[in-house]
Amino acid sequence: MSQPQPRKLFVTTALPYANGAFHIGHIMEYIQADIWVRFQRMQGNEVNFVGADDAHGAPIMIAAEKAGVTPQEFVARIAAGRKQYLDGFHIAFDNWHSTDGPENHQLSQDIYRRLRDGAKLISVKTVEQFFDPVKSMFLPDRYIKGECPKCHAKDQYGDSCEVCGAVYAATELINPYSTLTGATPVMKSSEHYFFRLSDPKCRDFLREWALDDKRLQPEVANKAREWLEGDDGLGDWDISRDAPYFGIEIPDAPGKYFYVWLDAPIGYLASLKNYFARTGRDYDAFMADPATEQYHFIGKDITYFHTLFWPAMLHFAGLKVPNNVFVHGFITVSGEKMSKSRGTGISPLRYLEVGMNPEWLRYYIAAKLSAKVEDVDFNPEDFIARVNSDLIGKYVNIASRAAGFITKRFDGRLASGWASAADPFLARLREAGASIQALYEGREYGKALRAVMEEADAVNAYVDANKPWELAKNPENGALLQEVCSRLIEAFRILTIYLKPVLPALAQQVETLLNIEPLQWSDVGTPLPTGHRINTYSHLMTRVEPKMLDALFDAPAAPAAAPTDEAPAAAGIEPLAPEIKIDDFAKIDLRIALIVDCAAVDGSDKLLRLTLDVGEGRMRNVFSGIKSSYDPAQLVGKLTVLVANLAPRKMKFGISEGMVLAASASDEKADPGIYILNPWPGAKPGMRIR
Ligand code: 2FM
Ligand code: ZN
Repeated sequence: MSQPQPRKLFVTTALPYANGAFHIGHIMEYIQADIWVRFQRMQGNEVNFVGADDAHGAPIMIAAEKAGVTPQEFVARIAAGRKQYLDGFHIAFDNWHSTDGPENHQLSQDIYRRLRDGAKLISVKTVEQFFDPVKSMFLPDRYIKGECPKCHAKDQYGDSCEVCGAVYAATELINPYSTLTGATPVMKSSEHYFFRLSDPKCRDFLREWALDDKRLQPEVANKAREWLEGDDGLGDWDISRDAPYFGIEIPDAPGKYFYVWLDAPIGYLASLKNYFARTGRDYDAFMADPATEQYHFIGKDITYFHTLFWPAMLHFAGLKVPNNVFVHGFITVSGEKMSKSRGTGISPLRYLEVGMNPEWLRYYIAAKLSAKVEDVDFNPEDFIARVNSDLIGKYVNIASRAAGFITKRFDGRLASGWASAADPFLARLREAGASIQALYEGREYGKALRAVMEEADAVNAYVDANKPWELAKNPENGALLQEVCSRLIEAFRILTIYLKPVLPALAQQVETLLNIEPLQWSDVGTPLPTGHRINTYSHLMTRVEPKMLDALFDAPAAPAAAPTDEAPAAAGIEPLAPEIKIDDFAKIDLRIALIVDCAAVDGSDKLLRLTLDVGEGRMRNVFSGIKSSYDPAQLVGKLTVLVANLAPRKMKFGISEGMVLAASASDEKADPGIYILNPWPGAKPGMRIR
């Protein structure tokens, strides 16, 4: 029989916005995709697995401006932080790129031209929209606030009211204002470019792609059906934004840019193209090959873009359409939904910092994932129990019980003649491989791992029945001990193949222990040769200690640069002060201050005298009670934050013109430190903090 041809796969995860660090939701998606990719590679298939930063759009442009850097610099800084997460959790992308790279500019403009000139699916319409006259820019809805037209709650966003839940157009807000400048927006018209999804040929194609051949998950197909068959049908899609905008210029339309969601998915192709160029391969030939399969792993919130806009764009540009889009749910922590911008109480970096093994998380997440669009809950007690009982109790213990005897008693040599094909114990283990393989292929990881653990139970039953530690007591049983332990080593090898997509680093340690080449799926049927020599056993994996979970949750060190929309629930912090309105906060004028000079104050053991430049063309004198924590020389030349409109205060040593902000613990004994604030690089003296 001829071997099936290896498949050629192109796999992506959703491209994260380049305005914040990865949160646990990103890591979950990457783990899900990485397991599938590693599984495919173990089948001998060719996989090209790429990601990129989603660089464009108004929020990133505005965040960069606030940080005092160009959007390109801003995005580059975020991108520089990605590697520690990807390496840390063994996520093996072949390439990580940016949607602002030259490949994406060229591909996006090319696809647009094909949609415009070939498919005739681009139209231009005049649109009236709110415009900020101070900033001279059109305002996306999230940058407009005002009074709710229904319940009259103040400070509601331009699209919906958080108090009464009403949904409305920004133009219906009473007393609208721009959140960027506070100015009253004016209506202004502008020409916008549209992708004519309402054209019947789009609907016909999408019906066929999304509904006809059972490609999509049933829940996803149902959603697509609602969108395609609903009363309103598909509307035309507004794909342009006016300057100033950080994005890709629309050809032949000066001052117009592609809306970020047009060029974001094209970023998948751009990253692949960049990867192929880097490795001397032919991108066009690969993508033109009908045998190439294309898959995207995404979260349920961006299904619309990936099952309607994206396949339609590709199809009508004459390009390959995705074979499938694999949609997953969100991750909750102890049942609590997380905020998209901030993540949850679990910071992926904190997880690594407290010394938790990344493969515990890979295993736990995999054990909870199915092919359904279901949310996955991270529950600390369940995590500890699952990892310790499955990974350590059922799997790793097999090796620790068998390998020691082989090295100590038999010089590392396996027995000869132990691995007869008819051996029912090992045959059962090998037979399980086909169904485990099918479960991985169908992304039913939870079921796959349950099947593997059932096999591990059978192996442990063999251990209990044969009791190697008892055999070891009597030297006459030497041959039997060697045979039992050799069988166990072979069983452990087979289980390792089944777990390798989830536990790649552990599998590598096992390969070293067993003194073998990297395991492939087909190795299930090829036993270790009789008399094979293994290496000395060293510890493979430790148990999860509950105190690690305490450390993980005690100090949620989420380095989120994105805007926060929920306060994190942290244990043991000082109670919050009574709620204030934005107007109360606005009364406090906080400014960036440069510490030009700093000196101790004669006669005071608490105070330092700071000379501050707040951009006013004069220096300010401020006394601050931070002497216990800082050496004056340490502070000179640094930026900090000043309450600049505090009434001047006459003190024993002179007048203090403002107050420098600093953090301290409520329990001084627990932490006597005083920590003054230091802004992100790029802030300038005199900038207001709002
Ligand atoms: O929702 C998001 O985070 C988007 N940045 C996802 C883009 S996926 C693809 F289209 F690039
Ligand atoms: Zn309302």
